[in-house]
Amino acid sequence: MSAEQMKQTVARAAVKYVTDDSVIGVGTGSTANHFIDALAESQIPVRATVASSEATAEKLKAAGFLLEDLNSAGTLSLYIDGTDEVNEHLHLIKGGGGALTREKIVAAASTQFVCIADASKQVSTLGKFPLPVEVIPMARSYVAREIVKLGGDPELRDRFTTDNGNVILDIHNMEISDPVAMEQQINALAGVVCCGLFAARPADVMLLGQSDGSVITLGG
Ligand code: A5P
Repeated sequence: MSAEQMKQTVARAAVKYVTDDSVIGVGTGSTANHFIDALAESQIPVRATVASSEATAEKLKAAGFLLEDLNSAGTLSLYIDGTDEVNEHLHLIKGGGGALTREKIVAAASTQFVCIADASKQVSTLGKFPLPVEVIPMARSYVAREIVKLGGDPELRDRFTTDNGNVILDIHNMEISDPVAMEQQINALAGVVCCGLFAARPADVMLLGQSDGSVITLGG
C-alpha cells in the first residue's frame, strides 16, 4: 500500500469520531484533505467546520461544508489533523505545510484532537523532520541567531508567507529530547508567533495507517 493509500485509509477511520450535529475543527495538508473527502462521502450531518488554513477553508467550502469562525464556535468537540512526526507520547512536529499557528489554535480550542498519519510519521525522537517556526518578518534574523544558540540550524522557507503574513524558519539538525521544554523555549523568543511542536497540547488519539491496510490506534 502506498503512503497516499495509507493516508486515505486512516482518514476514513477518523470519520467514526465525528458525531451528528457537531462543529469540528479540520487541519491542513494531504491527510486532512483525504479526511474532508471521507467526511463528505460519509454524509454525516455536521453542523459546521472550523478551518485551520485558507487552503482547508477552500476545500471544505467546495465539499459543501459550512464554515464557522472559531470566535463564534466556542469549544470544539473534535479536531482532526495530520502530522509530520509523532513520538510515543503523541507529541508532534507539525507545520510542513506552514499552517502550524492556526492548527495549534484550533487544536487548543478542541476537547479531543485526533491525529491521522501514515506509518512513516512515527519516530522515536522528534527532530529529523525540520521543525517549522512561524516568525514575525522583522524578527527573522534575531530569532535565527537565538535558534543557533539552542543548537539548531535554521533555514528561511523560500518564497513562503503564512496565512498570517509571516515567515517560516525550518530548524534542521535539532534532536528534541524534551519536546515540552523545547516548545516553551522557542515560543518564548521575541518575534516567534509559534513553533511546530505540539507537546504541551499533544494529540489525544493517534491513528496510524499501516502498509497492510490496517490502522493502529494509540492513546484515547
Ligand atoms: C500543515 O501545516 C501540517 O501541519 C500538516 O498537518 C502536516 O505537514 C502533515 O501533512 P500531510 O498530511 O500532507 O503529510
